[in-house]
Amino acid sequence: MSDEKEQVHVYDDDLVEEDNALPLWWQYALYGGVVFAAVYWFAEHQVGAFAAQDVVYQEEMLSVRLEQAKRGGGSLPPEALIALSKAPAAVEQGKQVFASTCASCHRADGGGNIGPNLTDGAWLHGGKPENIYSSVHDGVAAKGMPAWGPQLGEEKVAAATAYLLTIKGTNVPGGKPPQGTEEL
Ligand code: HEC
Repeated sequence: MSDEKEQVHVYDDDLVEEDNALPLWWQYALYGGVVFAAVYWFAEHQVGAFAAQDVVYQEEMLSVRLEQAKRGGGSLPPEALIALSKAPAAVEQGKQVFASTCASCHRADGGGNIGPNLTDGAWLHGGKPENIYSSVHDGVAAKGMPAWGPQLGEEKVAAATAYLLTIKGTNVPGGKPPQGTEEL
């Protein structure tokens, strides 16, 4: 029995495996890592302490998109508009623009009045992000839809479009019957 033990703990005659306590620094590293992981996980998932990073990222993306809009001179790539429609700050800005500038003709909830229902799936001038952007930017003068680009500027037109993308297809109750081509 004691022979067996010796065989396990002595190698090449002079290499002896001892049973010392783990070094303190090593234990600190291990337990510190475990505690850090637990605290980090809790802060990230339960408290949302790092959510602010997402907001900063979104705000930066927003300003990049808006720069694109300004340089694009009345057109923005669809991906940029879709990204804006997912950025709460842009959607909120668009919602305010809509309430102050568009609600008189399109109704406060977008259900339509003088202007068509913007919450259904039917579009006179196309329902793709870039179509909606051009409708808002350039208007349809002959039909009573003003061109908002020159008045509001690219940023607000982009924000209003982002907002419209969030209400598109929501079919608010009591909305104006669909006009144009069904296209979601
Ligand atoms: C003076 C009334 C009026 C105001 C204000 C107005 N619109 Fe319009 N809008 C219209 C009319 C009328 C049409 C339909 C044009 C047509 O028949 O071709 C229209 C069409 C549209 C369309 C195209 C809908 C489709 O079916 O293709 C969009 C998008 C739109 N408006 C967004 C807006 C936004 C955003 C604002 C505010 C910035 C706004 N409108 C303000 C009257 C208005």
